[in-house]
Amino acid sequence: MSDTAQIQTPAWLTSGDFTQADEPLRLWQAWFDEAVKGEPRDPNAMSVATVDKDGFPDVRTVLLKGVDERGFVFYTNTESQKGQELAGNMKAALLFYWKSLNRQVRIRGPVERVTAEEADAYFATRPKGAQIGAWASQQSRPLESRLAFEKNVAIYTAKYALGTVPRPPHWSGFRILPLKMEFWHDRPFRLHDRIEFRRAELGQDWTKVRMYP
Ligand SMILES: Cc1cc2nc3c(=O)[nH]c(=O)nc-3n(C[C@H](O)[C@H](O)[C@H](O)COP(=O)(O)O)c2cc1C
Repeated sequence: MSDTAQIQTPAWLTSGDFTQADEPLRLWQAWFDEAVKGEPRDPNAMSVATVDKDGFPDVRTVLLKGVDERGFVFYTNTESQKGQELAGNMKAALLFYWKSLNRQVRIRGPVERVTAEEADAYFATRPKGAQIGAWASQQSRPLESRLAFEKNVAIYTAKYALGTVPRPPHWSGFRILPLKMEFWHDRPFRLHDRIEFRRAELGQDWTKVRMYP
């Protein structure tokens, strides 16, 4: 390890005591890196909770496809249930549960749409079959039969047989901008460790609070 890396590695990371962390995105990244190594299936899976116009919550799994200091990005059909719920209330909660590590991270905050350029760039990296699927699936709407779906897939496969598949106008990404990030790790006898980082507004410094588990 170089001198620079030693200077940059925070003490909490080398000590293994995550409750000493002072910045949640760095801690999330450290846990995610471990999940990539230790979680055999979909370490980037996360639950996304939204509410409908009556305030009823709903939740489903999506895959995290981008993260930076701004927040956490997933892609979906914007006309789906989650897409419509977000259109009505641009706020969401996320949950990562890495079973194999016995760790949970809970996040919430306002949501923004990714730019068209960002969505185009990610869409272009998807396998062609998945690009066709984005056209063929009217996500969250009733489907009369599996055959009807397969017919749709055949139609779009023929339509885009040659050349690149454009991104459907109804397919894009959402970014959750964290105002709260809570980290939970199991300890013996259910005396778990739990810390929460909060900030009232984006761009502000984080406040850390240890919570009863
Ligand atoms: C492991 C896993 C990953 C998934 N990833 C996505 C995803 O990235 N985007 C997506 O739209 N749906 C994804 N889904 C399907 C969603 O959970 C959900 O069924 C779908 O998006 C419709 O949700 P909605 O009706 O609430 O909008 C995934 C499901 C599982 C189990």
